[in-house]
Amino acid sequence: MSGAGSLVGDRAVVAAPMAGGPSTWQLAAAVTRAGGIGFLAAGMRPVDRLVQDVASTRGALEGTEHAVFGVNLFVPEPANTAVPGDRRAPGSPARRRRAESVRRYRSGLLAEARRLGVELPGPEVLDPDAMDGWEAKLEAAEAGAWPLVTFTFGLPAASVFDRLHAAGSVLGVTVTSAAEAVRALDHGADVLCVQGPEAGGHRSVHDPAATPGTTPLMTLLAEVRAAVGTGTARDVPLWAAGGIMDAAGVGGVLDAGATAAQCGTAFLLAQEAGTSPLQRTALERTASGTGFAHPDGSARTALTRAYSGRWARGLDNRFMREHTDAPAAYPEVNVLTGPLRQAATAAGDAESVSLWAGVGAAAVRAAPAAEIVRHLTP
Ligand SMILES: Cc1cc2nc3c(=O)[nH]c(=O)nc-3n(C[C@H](O)[C@H](O)[C@H](O)COP(=O)(O)O)c2cc1C
Repeated sequence: MSGAGSLVGDRAVVAAPMAGGPSTWQLAAAVTRAGGIGFLAAGMRPVDRLVQDVASTRGALEGTEHAVFGVNLFVPEPANTAVPGDRRAPGSPARRRRAESVRRYRSGLLAEARRLGVELPGPEVLDPDAMDGWEAKLEAAEAGAWPLVTFTFGLPAASVFDRLHAAGSVLGVTVTSAAEAVRALDHGADVLCVQGPEAGGHRSVHDPAATPGTTPLMTLLAEVRAAVGTGTARDVPLWAAGGIMDAAGVGGVLDAGATAAQCGTAFLLAQEAGTSPLQRTALERTASGTGFAHPDGSARTALTRAYSGRWARGLDNRFMREHTDAPAAYPEVNVLTGPLRQAATAAGDAESVSLWAGVGAAAVRAAPAAEIVRHLTP
């Protein structure tokens, strides 16, 4: 078995990293203890808090057999090899157009800001090159010899894979196409998380300006499997993500060649999750068919760039429908809408805040994480 294979073993359920609150160390530890793979979400999390989370998870798992858990990092644009250099060059026409589109979008949000009584951040803090503590997080991963690290939002340079491999980490990349999968393996990925369009949260399309693919997860999985080959050195563990809510769903992706399912939405109502009360209520309404649901009972979700400047799937609400003109500008748009989302959350306004969730949201269950792992295990 490869290094990656022996670390991730035969665990069929991975609790997806969920930045912005849901992924607590308590959730990560509970999932791993229950026989899954728990995850911490490093995206937008200050490095000192993240290091504490890793220590807490390790502490909680002391004495647990095969205590594997992962840490997931957002790849910031300057570290993302999928973005051409000329598009990132300061002062380039692409950069000027991007700044202009962010300014226009900001103007369109002023009425929302007035309604919620907040100020929108000014252009001086809307930085396309914000690093999210990238270097400090890589150094922490090396110093702490984190066992499993995955990347989303892009593909780091091969030298980053070399660095973390030297520290002993097994490395994963979330991919949304066969071409991304092949490049991720070229750079040194040991595990691929194959994310379909059904997934809740952000699409991990490596080029943030590209339109996300619509190939359903099962077909995408087959395409990635064919592209990386079977029985070769590139035959790495594949984790399938998107809309998987029960043991039948996990069994389906295992039969289709995945080694595990990476489930996010299924864990949003876990007792140990840090999901906000507003999102919990919205999900409970979705599950009971009293909100964010189609007449047939399925969840009403949609893809939007309105909240963050990157395509993401969430419960379909007013803000998403009214701001369809958001530019491809993460993290600027995310910073821009921060005060609006905070104020809407404080006001209990579920129509004006991002409620990330996948297409299976109507099947979400409130329970301890261990019970959710059991519900997902074929
Ligand atoms: C609330 C939420 C936050 C998410 N945050 C992250 C994240 O920080 N990193 C990441 O790689 N994926 C993130 N995702 C995407 C998941 O990794 C995964 O692709 C998705 O949850 C799978 O679809 P499902 O939600 O239908 O299970 C997030 C998903 C949700 C629902």
